[in-house]
Amino acid sequence: MPYGKLFTESALTKLVTVNTLRKMKTDGEKFVTVALYDAPMAAMAQKCGVQVLLIGDSLGMTVLGYDSTVPVTMEQMIYHIEAVARGNSKSLIMGDMPFMTYASTELAMHNATRIMQAGAHMVKLEGGAWVADTVHKLTERGIPVCGHLGLTPQSVNKLGGYRVQGRDAASAKIMLRDAKLLDEAGADLLVLECVPSSLADDISAAVSMPTIGIGAGKDTDGQVLVINDILGLTEHPPKFSKNFLIEAGDIPGALLKYSDDVKNGTFPADEHSFD
Ligand code: KIV
Repeated sequence: MPYGKLFTESALTKLVTVNTLRKMKTDGEKFVTVALYDAPMAAMAQKCGVQVLLIGDSLGMTVLGYDSTVPVTMEQMIYHIEAVARGNSKSLIMGDMPFMTYASTELAMHNATRIMQAGAHMVKLEGGAWVADTVHKLTERGIPVCGHLGLTPQSVNKLGGYRVQGRDAASAKIMLRDAKLLDEAGADLLVLECVPSSLADDISAAVSMPTIGIGAGKDTDGQVLVINDILGLTEHPPKFSKNFLIEAGDIPGALLKYSDDVKNGTFPADEHSFD
């Protein structure tokens, strides 16, 4: 039987927009994001009711075999964004801006335009105060932006490793300030990666834009996981992830279980979160 027939109830029926996600935040309804990279997975995500697709620069590690996101290029991002956009007509599609492609506002304008023209509905970039002006200029000109705070993988060489961020009072205060600056600059979404649950909760309550957590506890407005982690393809899976394939038995079932568990609040559990 075609897998699509199994998912008539969960499939997205309407286009997901920034307004859909803002309303879900207001209504306290959790939304689901998956970082994925190709057309068949994007089509399956639509059937499973996944509201947001992220073509993350994580593809450097999950698909291309690099040991960080730093080597990822605009051309690689565009190739995968186009593939995802061909497979899905309803989810909101978000494309990551690779390392140093938004180092100045002019560069960001040029590269964000390319990402949008490849089929994305929003761009994502990492950083706090230093990107606020760029976020303002992009959003003012009609390009929705998702910020990314906490563990920002493009800065791994500066951070000295992949670690939970915002654990001490001073760094927590800066992260909260940065989130407010991005909100005021007009950002439409905010990813919080590897952040103590209580801080992610405080940030989510303090900003009008919806937040998406990964290793940030259960109180963000939405959740994101990387498809490789959902399907158990990662050799050393991070604590915040879960292999949904074990329980579900097949790939469509695993994606649907992840989607359902986020929506009904059973994922993430305490074991996937940080203090
Ligand atoms: O690149 C990516 O997939 C990401 C997510 C982990 C949030 O940034």
